Amino acid sequence: MKIAFIGGGNMGEAMLSATLSKGLSQPQAITVSDVDETRRRHLKQQYGLAVTGDNRQASDKAEVVVLAIKPQNLTEVMAGLSGQLKPSQLVLSIIAGARISTLSHGLSHNCIVRAMPNTPAQIGEGISVWTTTAEVTKRQQGWAGSILGAMGREIYVDDEKYLDMATAVSGSGPAYFFLFIEALVEAGVSIGLPGAVAQELALETMLGSGHLMQKSGKPPSELRKMVTSPGGTTAEALLQLERGGFSDLIRQAVRAAYEKARQLGGEPQ
Ligand SMILES: NC(=O)c1ccc[n+]([C@@H]2O[C@H](COP(=O)([O-])OP(=O)(O)OC[C@H]3O[C@@H](n4cnc5c(N)ncnc54)[C@H](OP(=O)(O)O)[C@@H]3O)[C@@H](O)[C@H]2O)c1
Repeated sequence: MKIAFIGGGNMGEAMLSATLSKGLSQPQAITVSDVDETRRRHLKQQYGLAVTGDNRQASDKAEVVVLAIKPQNLTEVMAGLSGQLKPSQLVLSIIAGARISTLSHGLSHNCIVRAMPNTPAQIGEGISVWTTTAEVTKRQQGWAGSILGAMGREIYVDDEKYLDMATAVSGSGPAYFFLFIEALVEAGVSIGLPGAVAQELALETMLGSGHLMQKSGKPPSELRKMVTSPGGTTAEALLQLERGGFSDLIRQAVRAAYEKARQLGGEPQ
């Protein structure tokens, strides 16, 4: 698969490295375009692929053109590529908030996949949600699914509206998790645990619980009840969380992220 990456930053590198390690493409079939000379040198050295500072040159012969630049650079990048892409080239955008209509209009191009990965993609443990325009062929859907799948799990949805919802749950989700761990560590330290011990306890507890949920196939509510004996320590803690409106706060946070994603994508509020 001939792939061009427009933007070789954190996510661009995560995608190309996953693509190479899963054997979906070879270094000689990948070109990365990035304005940053240091990034170009790093990617060429690390992966032995072609690099350029010219987005048009990078995308010229590619079957898949991955857009992995920041949202604030999208307008200039689209202006540079507009009218340059052949109808058969697949554009795969991972740019948060960039709607298919914006991409299609800005690039004068209709064959588009819009995806929302998350940061664990950097270690192959991500989850991506994606959708396509009607012009994307079955074969191209296969390419998109395998590129995104190389970074972890992927879920295809048939309506773009789910992308903004996924952004609020899985896109921003790693930050919720890290904040929860930070708070748990701080709380552990406040009752006297050494910081390093508190951090290991908190992280291993989260990881182990996640794996338990995945492997047991049981719903989280059931697993929660299994740790919560009536009148016990967990019940006491959960009571405090409930009193502080924990679930309600999470709901509000996710809704705020969702509304922000819609707003960034130009949806009326
Ligand atoms: N990180 C996440 O969790 C996550 C999750 C889902 C989606 N995304 C999306 O992924 C995209 C990339 O994020 P990132 O964290 O990888 O950003 P990043 O590390 O800043 O990478 C973007 C790269 O593109 C370069 N660039 C800027 N303007 C360019 C241009 N005109 N032509 C070519 N390259 C250009 C940047 O160079 P300079 O640094 O010199 O500007 C940078 O090296 C974003 O749109 C983000 O919304 C990120």
